Amino acid sequence: MYEIVKTLHSYWAYLVLIVLAIAAITAIVRTLGDKEYEANDFRRSLFALIVSHIQLLIGLVLYFVSPRLQLFIELGMGGIMGDSVNRLYLVEHPFVNILAVVLITMGYSKHKKKLTSNAKLKTIAIFYTLALVLFLSRIPWSTWI
Ligand code: HEM
Repeated sequence: MYEIVKTLHSYWAYLVLIVLAIAAITAIVRTLGDKEYEANDFRRSLFALIVSHIQLLIGLVLYFVSPRLQLFIELGMGGIMGDSVNRLYLVEHPFVNILAVVLITMGYSKHKKKLTSNAKLKTIAIFYTLALVLFLSRIPWSTWI
């Protein structure tokens, strides 16, 4: 179970980062170009929302089936916070990614309420780019790539 969920989480991460990067960069370019908000803008932002929520769910399952969870009993909170690798996997990665998914959700619902194309695109550009930076900041690069 753990290995299957971890593999799924690991590969789905590529999809999340690619889809989110396309949505964020396109929104930045179209905001700066003062473009009209189109159906494809809506589709990109919705697809990024959906894939990141799925990754959040897979991550939550992974968190509770991972043998790492045992470390909370073995090392205690102090022991985990004192070790950068365990702190990343058990604290920083989950919490920062949950925060990033909250930003994507806020950006999506706020942009829908905006009335002008520029305001819609700018909202997606800001919230999705922030989320992308947060995701990239807490990826366990040493084990993933
Ligand atoms: C939503 C965006 C997220 C992305 C892009 C992401 C990405 C990744 C990546 C690339 C890895 C490394 C996989 C590997 O070593 O092959 C990983 C591991 C992990 N992720 Fe996430 N993750 C996300 C959210 C979450 C969330 C919300 C949680 C928990 C609540 C979580 C829990 C974990 C755990 C526990 C591992 C380590 C698995 C292990 O090696 O035992 N992830 N994640």
